[in-house]
Amino acid sequence: MKHIVIIGSSSMDFVVSADKRPEKGETIIGNQFVSMPGGKGANQAVAAARLGSKVTMLGSVGTDRYADEILNNFKKNNVSTEHLRIIPDVSTGTAHITIAEKDNSIIVVKGANEYVTVSYIEEKINVIEEADIVLIQQEIPADTVEYVIELCEQLQKKIILNPAPYRKVSKELLKKATYLTPNEHECQSLFEEENQSDILRQFPNQLMITEGENGVRYFDGTKECLIPSYSVDVVDTTGAGDTFNAAFAVSLVHGERIDHSIDFANYAAALSVKKIGAQGGMPTKDEMIKQFPNHRCFEV
Ligand code: RIB
Ligand code: NA
Repeated sequence: MKHIVIIGSSSMDFVVSADKRPEKGETIIGNQFVSMPGGKGANQAVAAARLGSKVTMLGSVGTDRYADEILNNFKKNNVSTEHLRIIPDVSTGTAHITIAEKDNSIIVVKGANEYVTVSYIEEKINVIEEADIVLIQQEIPADTVEYVIELCEQLQKKIILNPAPYRKVSKELLKKATYLTPNEHECQSLFEEENQSDILRQFPNQLMITEGENGVRYFDGTKECLIPSYSVDVVDTTGAGDTFNAAFAVSLVHGERIDHSIDFANYAAALSVKKIGAQGGMPTKDEMIKQFPNHRCFEV
């Protein structure tokens, strides 16, 4: 069984849907409220586990009731929490999400996710050594992300850096990650003055720019490719990027080609947006086998 190690955030998502966003100083009546486990790291872990991989989460929660809910959710989804860091008297990370006018806006309060530190990861090097691929995002401290990318380079481990949410990362560090998966906005912020085609050419088969309903763009060494996404009725796009990253990782570790892996991940992401909540619509391996039109089955 392929082993995926996820290093990232675990949060509780508080999701409100409304017809519009309130103006400054305005109070409006919303339509629906749900709270459920989220956080980019945890979402990617759950998505990869549902797709049949062995998944270990390296992350941190507090000791409040949200932590319990998050831990139960990991167990329910077969994500190993053996190496998770539990910090007493610190609040678990939270994300406050508004869904309105077909889009979401999110405020993240990091809480215990700040404790995904370099020294914690140093104690978990053996876990990383056992991974077939590592996935990391940016809801944890920047020096941890830097440390992990450099560690993976030394260990010759494949690593996907999903540079979300945006935070400045040096080009030197970006070059060291096996794969980069920013969305178009993150990409623009990361490479400020450069034009997209030039950037893609500097990162052949390494930089995958996710452009939502357009698809995913990368440079294959010869030409620029756009792998189109699948159009579905959207309920909630929260976590679509996380599903994409996890499914991309799962497909890659099974030796599939980049173009096929993007297509597979696009399909998983499309299924994920049909239900409310980041993890709500994340498909299982069986759902993918039944529904993915270009399916090639990989052995788990
Ligand atoms: O990527 C989606 C996630 O980002 C949500 O689950 C929320 O926790 C935010 O951090
Ligand atoms: Na969803």
